[in-house]
Amino acid sequence: MSLQNKVAIVTGGNSGIGQAIVLELARQGAAVVIDYVVHPEATEALEQQIGKLGARAIGVEADISKVADLQRLVDAAVSRFGRLDIMVNNAGIETRTSVLDTTEDQYDRVMEVNLKSAFFGTQIAAAQMMKQGGGGRVINITSVHEDWPMPGNTAYCLAKGGMRMLTRTAGVELAPHGILVVGVGPGAVATPINLSTMNDPAKLKRLDAAIPLGRMARPEEIASVVSFLAGEGASYLTATTIFADGGIMQGSVGL
Ligand SMILES: NC(=O)c1ccc[n+]([C@@H]2O[C@H](COP(=O)([O-])OP(=O)(O)OC[C@H]3O[C@@H](n4cnc5c(N)ncnc54)[C@H](O)[C@@H]3O)[C@@H](O)[C@H]2O)c1
Repeated sequence: MSLQNKVAIVTGGNSGIGQAIVLELARQGAAVVIDYVVHPEATEALEQQIGKLGARAIGVEADISKVADLQRLVDAAVSRFGRLDIMVNNAGIETRTSVLDTTEDQYDRVMEVNLKSAFFGTQIAAAQMMKQGGGGRVINITSVHEDWPMPGNTAYCLAKGGMRMLTRTAGVELAPHGILVVGVGPGAVATPINLSTMNDPAKLKRLDAAIPLGRMARPEEIASVVSFLAGEGASYLTATTIFADGGIMQGSVGL
């Protein structure tokens, strides 16, 4: 168990990729604060599942688009488990709207939930890590769309592109404190955020055909990368993004 005695927060931790990250960090021995905004019953089930693994977890309801709620998450980690070693900024939303039809409210919400939360999540986690000493890890779940345009999802791409520069800049700023900041950029992952594609066989076939590995990722295949980045084996990685995308960004249209 590579993360024994470590304490982690995972935002948006009771579904999809976040849930898989929570479980994998707990399997590796970390105590985990599971942030959520909906489905308390899913959080409770996850807490119980983790208890059966012999690990520790608590669910905390917090809207990570609000700085005060992010602070409450860090306070919960410290009061319940004594410290914070790993901050996973995972929560995210998308609107699937183009630059032509995105409303001001949609734009603001996508920016708040994806980018503002990661910025202040990094800031508040880093403050705690510096206070306790010994460094720490901030892991931002970005996307291939931190770099790769997705027409029809413009605000999301902007937010993920912002997370790319947050990861790089905060990684450089926080390096002297031993706080490593890394992004994980998934390709297409089979989670609730992609239900419309997963429920449309023709669309799913087109997507699978565009991915060199021929299929969407399972959430566990992203969680294993996060777990590696949280551990000792990733001690020289910072200010960069690891893409776990089945090769989709390098894919080419066959002739
Ligand atoms: N599934 C994919 O194909 C894919 C690809 C690349 C990146 N991502 C990123 O992975 C992350 C997780 O997405 P997912 O695929 O697991 O989808 P998901 O919808 O299951 O997870 C998103 C989570 O964020 C939570 N959330 C939303 N608003 C919140 C708020 N204000 N406060 C706290 N939590 C909030 C949701 O409740 C949910 O639990 C997102 O950042 C997403 O952009 C997903």
